[in-house]
Amino acid sequence: MAIVIIRQDQKIALWKNALLKDDSSLKVYSYLEEHPKEEITMAVIWKHPAGSLKGYPNLKCIASAGAGVDYIFEDPTRPRHIPITRIVDPLLASDMSEHVLAVILAHIKNLNLYKQQQVANLWQPVEYTRIKDTTVGILGLGELGALTAKDLAKVGFKVQGWSRGRKTIDHVTTYAGKDELNVFLTSTQLLVCLLPLTPETEGFLNKSLLEQLPKGAYLINVARGGHLVDGDLLMLLDNGHLSGAYLDVYHKEPLPTAHPFWNHKKVHMTPHYASVSDTDSVVPQLIENYYRLENGEELKNKIDMDKGY
Ligand code: NDP
Ligand code: OXD
Repeated sequence: MAIVIIRQDQKIALWKNALLKDDSSLKVYSYLEEHPKEEITMAVIWKHPAGSLKGYPNLKCIASAGAGVDYIFEDPTRPRHIPITRIVDPLLASDMSEHVLAVILAHIKNLNLYKQQQVANLWQPVEYTRIKDTTVGILGLGELGALTAKDLAKVGFKVQGWSRGRKTIDHVTTYAGKDELNVFLTSTQLLVCLLPLTPETEGFLNKSLLEQLPKGAYLINVARGGHLVDGDLLMLLDNGHLSGAYLDVYHKEPLPTAHPFWNHKKVHMTPHYASVSDTDSVVPQLIENYYRLENGEELKNKIDMDKGY
């Protein structure tokens, strides 16, 4: 039994060392080095090159090193019978919650606007909004969405959330399914997307959905670029229906330099870094699953192959 790490960033050594620090008896390989393919039972991956999951005859688990698994489904050559696991981690969730709080405060207290004014030597006070008067709506009440909703409610925001199945979360108004989407949207001032990217949610943040938000609403997309129809967002920013948008994720990453988001006054951007798997925090769950494989036990944090998340 052995683990292969497959990712295209510079973090293979970081992950290998973190796994070995926790359990020095493990056999861990980078996919870039010579390795015994028949020994590999688990692939720990993040945005792997398409095709790189082929050729492991004894592979039993594809472990995403992040919460999302959409990139795995995008690889047509992936071995379809192998179970996929993902990261479920309190730090990943609290990092996201803190990030969303920062973005919301920057918007309602006009910090982005003042930065632009500073660059232009402009002294122009603008009315601000109070937390207690702000309704935040969260699309997706899973591991990240539910904690973000709870934390925002604790701070004093009015919080509502929408998901496929009904949820109960203290101090959060919850809506479920397509029938309740419109009521949710029409009463949301700041919309936060924390849905997984699946065939059902691709292009979900489009003109018809965003137009259901009240005039002046603000969009925060920290989920995946594929949720957003970029042209629809630009149109609704330019016609004044939306007051602005904050984006952490894009169709193509890094975002091409010619993309209109870069220079749009109402778009605020970060480079897909809202919340990142912390190796020390997430390695124990990967190792636990590795031994579960060895013992023929049920894997933790397995995704539903039919739903795609
Ligand atoms: P979960 O799988 O725990 O939660 C997903 C939520 O979305 C669930 O509440 C689910 O509803 C809901 N949902 C899924 N499909 C639909 C649908 N068609 N209609 C309505 N609701 C739906 O995911 P996480 O919270 O762990 O992560 C969410 C996403 O955040 C990840 O997939 C990833 O893309 C993104 N992410 C971004 C990061 C960043 O740095 N920008 C970092 C980490 C994650 P139900 O519970 O009823 O099934
Ligand atoms: C994730 C991410 O899905 O970082 O974990 O985007």
